[in-house]
Amino acid sequence: MVDQLHALRDAALADIAAAPDAAALGALRIKYLGRQGALATLSDGMKTLTKEERPAAGKALNETRNALTAALESRDAALTAQGESAALAGVDLTLPGTPTVPLGSLHPMTQLLDRTVQIFRRLGFALADGPDIDDEFHCFDALNTPADHPARNEQDTFYLPDGRLLRTHTSTVQIRTMETQGPPVRIIAPGAAYRRDETDATHLAQFNQVEGLCVDAGVSLADLKGTVEFFLKELFGLQTKVRFRPHFFPFTEPSFEVDLQSPALGGKWLELAGCGMVDPAVFAAVNQSRGDDAYDPEKISGYAFGFGLDRLAMLMADLPDIRLLIENDVRFLAQFAG
Ligand code: DAH
Repeated sequence: MVDQLHALRDAALADIAAAPDAAALGALRIKYLGRQGALATLSDGMKTLTKEERPAAGKALNETRNALTAALESRDAALTAQGESAALAGVDLTLPGTPTVPLGSLHPMTQLLDRTVQIFRRLGFALADGPDIDDEFHCFDALNTPADHPARNEQDTFYLPDGRLLRTHTSTVQIRTMETQGPPVRIIAPGAAYRRDETDATHLAQFNQVEGLCVDAGVSLADLKGTVEFFLKELFGLQTKVRFRPHFFPFTEPSFEVDLQSPALGGKWLELAGCGMVDPAVFAAVNQSRGDDAYDPEKISGYAFGFGLDRLAMLMADLPDIRLLIENDVRFLAQFAG
């Protein structure tokens, strides 16, 4: 019987190795291991064996069953792998896929804002924030802007029924920052500002600014100029020229407007920002609000600046109309993708 089993095993292994496909393999499984298969038939013969012959025959029977089961499994795996690589034959796996959902990208204003934050971060400026709806104290009074200043007129500013307003500039964040932290301060505050402007090619009723404030012992106008110049050269290139033109802002003294000239922008001087040395009256308002003397103008000084981000974006991308930035026309936005 043991010889018969060995013969059966050799024949079966040869058949299995030669099985051309899964169907043939399935048929062989039934033929050899099925309930009425060859192995079952042989094992019926066990009954006719003597007691002495049985252990050896039983062992051979088990070995044969195990050998056939293992061979069937490995042939099955080999056939499956073969099928897969046949299906892939002639397919170039390095070909790029076909995009079904178009990829989006960041809005040009967001890209500009990210770069702005990056540049100032390298100079040690932290990000600060404040509310879009603020009160007259933070928007005007604390910024040394008297009650009869035109910016406070109802024609110029969006007031809420409760007397609060949509901030007309991000300079509010200067006050809010100094109220909550003592010097030294080194922050930029990007955000929206609102004015009752007719919308046209260069004006929006809601636009974006970046405010900057640096307060410490011994901060000078040279620091302000160096910082603003560094920022603009990083954005527009090393050939950029920066000019500080004396101006007036209630919350800085002296005050300047910043102009920029660069070959890339056609060589014209373009007005970009306001800035100056923080007026002691601003520190006085902050001290009063805090109830201490943390911002003592005898001990500390500071500079502030405010950039129009939309203006910067228009210059950088040579945009003819500021409204392009808020219309969300994909044909426009797609030019800034990537
Ligand atoms: N807040 C001014 C505006 O909206 C811009 C400005 C000017 C901000 C001078 C400043 C500054 O911080 O020092 O027109």
